[in-house]
Amino acid sequence: MTAAVRPLQLGYVGLSVSDPDTFATFAERVLGMVSVPVQGAARALRMDERSHRIRVHQGERNDLAYLGWQAADDATLDALVASLRVTTTELAADWAHSRGARRVVAFVDPAGVPGELFVVDETLHPDPFVSPKIKGGFVTGGQGLGHAAIRSDVRGASERFYGDLLGLKLSDRITCRAGDIDVDIAFMRTNSRHHSVALAGPIPARMHHMMLQVATLDDLGRAYDRAVRAQVNATTLGRHPNDRMVSFYVRTPAGFQIEIGWGGLEVDDTTWSTTTYDRVALWGHMPVDAP
Ligand SMILES: [Fe+2]
Repeated sequence: MTAAVRPLQLGYVGLSVSDPDTFATFAERVLGMVSVPVQGAARALRMDERSHRIRVHQGERNDLAYLGWQAADDATLDALVASLRVTTTELAADWAHSRGARRVVAFVDPAGVPGELFVVDETLHPDPFVSPKIKGGFVTGGQGLGHAAIRSDVRGASERFYGDLLGLKLSDRITCRAGDIDVDIAFMRTNSRHHSVALAGPIPARMHHMMLQVATLDDLGRAYDRAVRAQVNATTLGRHPNDRMVSFYVRTPAGFQIEIGWGGLEVDDTTWSTTTYDRVALWGHMPVDAP
């Protein structure tokens, strides 16, 4: 990785979900996203000015389908593809188009998690984003859509892949025992968001959760109220020690979780130093059993 390569952002996510309609309704009613039609997927979800950020494909995995990493330009995309040292496949133009992209190059990371590098020309939706539920909007822009916690049962290889090849930086680690689980997570960033990807342990699925950040504490609180009323909150409110995010987790109809957060810190590369934390929460995030 050379210093000339500009940072990526987690630009889009694809999901494989057995009941896309139920999932999209959940995303609208609980998360405050906006469902829109899209080519090449059953449903798509908007959360900002982009045409969409999440594509919901009909499929039986009930898991992540792919993470989309947006490169700043063609030269960055080409440099990254040349460095990846794994098999890459450039998607046909109409497939790229269906993702709101001009070029898409697909790959699979060392732990088997599919990814796509892409560049866009114009991805704005003709209508401004207005969520009836998230009045202050989601925090995206240059920080990308949020973060994803993904499987990494070959930790060294995954860290080298995302770090040395895709250019992400290690922000910190959490290693501890939580209940009967040994937690060992590496948090990696590609812009000022504390982490765009968290490399978790040998989890059975590709993705444990993805995180969406709202801009106001009131929107977080109202989302929490909606989740509690719908009996889908997987945890209580809590705060992580490393990214300082106040958040809670919801169980989606597809099984994986979504974290809704507020107040995550932004990393300044010039002053940041990497630490290892020994707990996953400063307070809260207590598990809530499904009803
Ligand atoms: Fe998270």
